[in-house]
Amino acid sequence: MSFMRTVTVALTGAAGIYGGLVLYREYFVKAQYTGNEQLFGKTAIVTGANTGIGREVAHDLARRGARVIMACRDMKKCEEAREKIVADSFNTNVVCRECDLASIESIQNFAEQINKDEKYLHLLINNAGVMWHPSKLTKDGFEQHLGVNYLGHFLLTNLLVEKLSKCSPSRIVNLTSSMYKRGQIDFDDLNNSKKTFNAKIAYEQAALAIVIATQEFCRQYPNSGVTATCVNPGITRTDIARHTIDKSFFSRVIIGPLLKAFMKTPMQGAQAVLQCALDPKLEGQCGKYFSDMKEEPVGANAKNDKDAKRLWLISERWTRLKK
Ligand SMILES: NC(=O)c1ccc[n+]([C@@H]2O[C@H](COP(=O)([O-])OP(=O)(O)OC[C@H]3O[C@@H](n4cnc5c(N)ncnc54)[C@H](OP(=O)(O)O)[C@@H]3O)[C@@H](O)[C@H]2O)c1
Repeated sequence: MSFMRTVTVALTGAAGIYGGLVLYREYFVKAQYTGNEQLFGKTAIVTGANTGIGREVAHDLARRGARVIMACRDMKKCEEAREKIVADSFNTNVVCRECDLASIESIQNFAEQINKDEKYLHLLINNAGVMWHPSKLTKDGFEQHLGVNYLGHFLLTNLLVEKLSKCSPSRIVNLTSSMYKRGQIDFDDLNNSKKTFNAKIAYEQAALAIVIATQEFCRQYPNSGVTATCVNPGITRTDIARHTIDKSFFSRVIIGPLLKAFMKTPMQGAQAVLQCALDPKLEGQCGKYFSDMKEEPVGANAKNDKDAKRLWLISERWTRLKK
């Protein structure tokens, strides 16, 4: 009897702590972007908009009246998400367009369609990404993190910058991770093909490449009227963990829900992205880095201008922007 009582007390205590953590996350950790900018007449592209943070950003932009182009690789998932966004936001000006960031050809086709068919483009949210993906090459032979998270968005940005510039002031928001601080650009083996593959190192390198290229973008396009910002959304419970904690049944069912208490919801993760996209105070400011809605100085490993130029030139060649 006393054993049962002990178990009951322990379970009640654990449930109380868990509930407390959830409440803490909901009411104290949560930072919310409170600006009420309206986006009627504005056009925004969100990559990877069918789930997670991207879907919440697309949803919010739609609620504000923007024309939202959801750039996704899986059209079925995209259409399902689009229908929900339209139903919730009462904005029918939300469309799906195919864009697989693991394929140069797909990105080129997508950008060509945008440049031909869209009258305006004011916002580009480079959100799609993979984390700790097992070793696998993209269609063009790039390591997945480098190819999708960094090179794919690098190419997309450069193919759309003219259109963004014509609609200036316009903004680009590049999602990255605070793990960029641990990253290194390995110029001898940028594509992770010589050394033993380590998904964590590959993710960190891609995250750093995003931060470096965001600043180099500002030097490459100084008078374009287009600003680029990079943002770490904070630890958010999304499908991003599909190659890590969500891999095993035990992790999914036991560890996943426990960790959930400490993590942001996708809507909370989206707030930092919305701030970078919309906050009038950031108008004209290029190359900033935000983490959890606070501006932070860019880390020392992302500040070498010579490395930035070198990375930019390699990226231009590898994505066939320049021979
Ligand atoms: N969640 C976090 O804690 C966290 C922390 C730091 C940074 N971030 C960054 O935040 C961004 C959004 O992540 P999330 O947490 O929302 O992840 P998520 O729920 O896994 O969403 C990722 C999105 O990217 C898409 N995607 C993946 N590969 C693609 C490809 N080849 N072409 C086009 N789209 C592709 C996915 O499409 P499918 O559904 O078809 O796979 C999905 O729509 C990522 O860049 C991530 O690195 C997240």
